[in-house]
Amino acid sequence: MFNPLHNDLTTTINSVLEDRTQLIEIIKNPASPEAKAVLNLANQVRLMMVGNDVHLRGLIEISNYCRNNCLYCGIRRDNSSLTRYRMTVAEIVATAQTGAGLGFKTIVLQSGEDPFYSAKMLAEAIEEITALGLVVTLSLGERHPNDYELWYQAGARRYLMRHETANPVLYQKLHPGQSLEHRIQLLKILKEIGYQVGSGFMVGLPQQTPEDLISDLELLKELDADMVGIGPFIPHPKTPLGVNSQGDLALTLLMVALARLTLPEALIPATTALGSIHPQGRELALQAGANVVMPNLTPVKYRSDYELYPNKICTNESATHCHGCITTKIYQLGRTVATDFGHNQKWLRRQNHA
Ligand code: 5AD
Ligand code: FES
Repeated sequence: MFNPLHNDLTTTINSVLEDRTQLIEIIKNPASPEAKAVLNLANQVRLMMVGNDVHLRGLIEISNYCRNNCLYCGIRRDNSSLTRYRMTVAEIVATAQTGAGLGFKTIVLQSGEDPFYSAKMLAEAIEEITALGLVVTLSLGERHPNDYELWYQAGARRYLMRHETANPVLYQKLHPGQSLEHRIQLLKILKEIGYQVGSGFMVGLPQQTPEDLISDLELLKELDADMVGIGPFIPHPKTPLGVNSQGDLALTLLMVALARLTLPEALIPATTALGSIHPQGRELALQAGANVVMPNLTPVKYRSDYELYPNKICTNESATHCHGCITTKIYQLGRTVATDFGHNQKWLRRQNHA
């Protein structure tokens, strides 16, 4: 098996991940020296496995309509206090073109679960964006597997859909009418179709336990996730969870680090949610195992309406501003901005052997 990690590093990783009692202690004390050691280890593993490059993905939030009613989410169906918008295919492609001009190699199309878009409409957008020489990542939630298939044929190569929490009971409470089992099934189908698959979870959800967070890591491993998004839960005042407390910065960073140890080759973003709870949240994540940043490309007129959680950073900044801002931050950390497509290396090896 391909493994550039030194044996002693592999032994250290295993000693962290396999001692459950110790792992629970570390999760309960995310500011302890032991937890700090895990962040350092993850930073080393990141450097050895995926190098110094940070991959930029241009995020286009194409629609804030959502048929679901997730208890934590600001664009949930029952939130009537925001203006709903939908970008046309032409608008989406033009925005992707702006991204290409800024140097992005990947465009992420994200939305609430919006059945307005037929599979064909989005396939058209995917084909046009792919024709610009860009990689398309989709983050459109649960759809029929036939849609996933059509979009893969149209050129999309990555799909992001977090499992949100690996505790099935908590999942059910947070997602009325949905099930963890179905989500996992769809993630497996996406992988079978050939996508690089991204999952992930929120940290600090009401009633979430350290054991749940360990289950989150175990599920990522079982899925063999190519990409892993982890962010703190941020209470949105216009949702049923609005009065709950926010996820902890140190604990979220620790979970990013543990995700790096669990899946050494994964693409792991320093999430916008982390940047939104702390001015250096994304930089800290980049030094705790993360190697991706997803600057916002959504036309500014729509941005404030894609409010998954309050105080989201970059809501009033232009795409050009954010691209420059994040590039500077990356170089200040002694890192480099990737110039390649930034595919998951393990996925590329799978493609070559297929
Ligand atoms: N706080 C933090 N993250 C949130 N998301 C949605 N709502 C919130 C919130 N209130 C995350 C979910 C989703 C991703 C796009 O945004 O994990 O998968
Ligand atoms: Fe948007 Fe810094 S990345 S302002």
